[in-house]
Amino acid sequence: MQLSELNVGLIFGTDTGNTEDVGTRIQTEMQKHGVEVELINITEASPEVCETYDFLIFGIPTWDFGGIQQDWEEAEETFLTANLTGKIAALYGLGDQFGYGDFFLDAMGWLHERVVKTGATVIGFWPTEGYEFTESQAVNDEKTEFCGLAIDEDQQFELTDERISKWVEQLVNECAELLQELSA
Ligand SMILES: Cc1cc2nc3c(=O)[nH]c(=O)nc-3n(C[C@H](O)[C@H](O)[C@H](O)COP(=O)(O)O)c2cc1C
Repeated sequence: MQLSELNVGLIFGTDTGNTEDVGTRIQTEMQKHGVEVELINITEASPEVCETYDFLIFGIPTWDFGGIQQDWEEAEETFLTANLTGKIAALYGLGDQFGYGDFFLDAMGWLHERVVKTGATVIGFWPTEGYEFTESQAVNDEKTEFCGLAIDEDQQFELTDERISKWVEQLVNECAELLQELSA
């Protein structure tokens, strides 16, 4: 199977629109690789909808000192109970590293923990190099990697397009490897 044959969904939550905007830019970038992505607001997603996709990209911003974006928080008991075993997942998070450097992208870490519990295989980890923050719940123990793409539209908006383009390329390659392993 090829990546272009997969059903790909991008599910986002947002308060002021940035996470949706970045989702649209990821969609455009995926199209350049021949991959169609369907964008869905978490307020309209259900476990049943989720289960129709082979590859899911989840977008979440962090609010109020490490808080979870409200629609995602409300979806915890419903949407995040989906069984995604055998599916591929990737995450992206939005935050402000200078304004909230003790809580940078915490919500992405929260979401990662829950997505892992759905049984999905998570890809798309992203280096912490090039970011300045003190603490984050979205990093590994060594603080070398985020559990997904880190976007800062408040402080580093000029780097966003390049980051998206690199990350999408990484996703395409990691997906191809996974699909090859599965067919071997
Ligand atoms: C009141 C307020 C609280 C915030 N708290 C955090 C935070 O704890 N951690 C973080 O990384 N970013 C924080 N941010 C930055 C937002 O995550 C960022 O602006 C993001 O792009 C918003 O995404 P949205 O438009 O999709 O809601 C905060 C921003 C505001 C205005």
